[in-house]
Amino acid sequence: MTILITGGAGFIGSNLVKYALANGYKVVNLDRLTYAGNLSSLASVIESPEHVFAEGDICDAPLLEALFRAHQPRAVMHLAAESHVDRSIDGPDDFIRTNVAGTFTLLEAARRYCDGLSGDERARFRFLHVSTDEVFGSLGNDGYFTEASPYDPHSPYSASKASSDHLVRAWGSTYGLPALVTNCSNNYGPYQFPEKLVPHITLSALAEKPLPVYGDGGNVRDWLHVGDHCRALMAVLERGRVGETYAIGGSSERTNVSIVQTICGILDELRPRPTGGASYRDLIRFVADRPGHDRRYAIDASKLRNELGWKPSRAFEDGMSETVKWYLGNGDWVNGILSGAYRLTRIGTGRHDAR
Ligand SMILES: NC(=O)c1ccc[n+]([C@@H]2O[C@H](COP(=O)([O-])OP(=O)(O)OC[C@H]3O[C@@H](n4cnc5c(N)ncnc54)[C@H](O)[C@@H]3O)[C@@H](O)[C@H]2O)c1
Repeated sequence: MTILITGGAGFIGSNLVKYALANGYKVVNLDRLTYAGNLSSLASVIESPEHVFAEGDICDAPLLEALFRAHQPRAVMHLAAESHVDRSIDGPDDFIRTNVAGTFTLLEAARRYCDGLSGDERARFRFLHVSTDEVFGSLGNDGYFTEASPYDPHSPYSASKASSDHLVRAWGSTYGLPALVTNCSNNYGPYQFPEKLVPHITLSALAEKPLPVYGDGGNVRDWLHVGDHCRALMAVLERGRVGETYAIGGSSERTNVSIVQTICGILDELRPRPTGGASYRDLIRFVADRPGHDRRYAIDASKLRNELGWKPSRAFEDGMSETVKWYLGNGDWVNGILSGAYRLTRIGTGRHDAR
């Protein structure tokens, strides 16, 4: 059975491609290879006959049509996106282009393909749109996001993802495209681009650089290991009800500063600082907050748990320790990424000269 995965050279996508291949699927992997997409994340499967890599853009309608025609996928799992909030503040254009216009172009190609399928094939076809909990805005100290939470996006990134969620649902109700939407909390794990919090802090600490914490560090996110996200996505694809939304979360709420302290603690044990006895925590620096920074996200994933029997398989502490070890043990991957344009600098203050 063939799945078209978009964004399969990114963080979640590359983990998902490997997970799908290991579970017997054939994967057509469409990725534009932006700064965030890396073939080195797919090294173990790039030669697999079950994996077809197509370098290209989800905004390219003729390419999409050709891929659908050539590979006749049974499903689309749509992950391709511009995904970094700070980048969306400095340059929202690419977020609108890929996340909104790109999703529209992909929906149209999927609709045309789906309309051409026979009754049975059409009934089996699925379009799974992978989205984020950031579309729901900010929670106070209590409560959880559910599938019924109202949309209230605050950053150009979350607004573009919210737009794409609405487009997917509209293509489901207007054109009968058999679509599903997932909204997941913050992921961590191997192959994450080092601008995101966990690898950024790990690699900055190892380089003895300051560890920036935005604002007072009290912003709360619900953390989920990427492997558990992939398991959830497959469960939704295989057994989710068409037209439904599923919220995915790890029930692991942590403040940003506690994430940074946890990473420092793991590194203190695994790779003590050369400066004799000092903790990596001494490198923590509180810096100006991100504009529009949502205070708290938390997910109630009981629909996914009750309907599809999914729950996270890793305890947060184990997953985080495993992840930090992965970055320590995969210097080649890290160095390959860091030798590109990205250099662990500060972006997303809304000031183009900001560092
Ligand atoms: N990372 C998280 O914590 C998280 C949480 C919930 C949902 N999501 C969603 O999951 C998806 C994947 O997130 P990620 O963290 O892996 O992102 P990522 O930035 O690591 O990867 C995105 C991938 O999309 C590709 N891409 C970008 N523009 C493209 C285009 N126009 N055409 C084709 N490919 C293009 C990039 O090359 C890259 O490989 C995104 O849709 C994101 O909104 C992420």
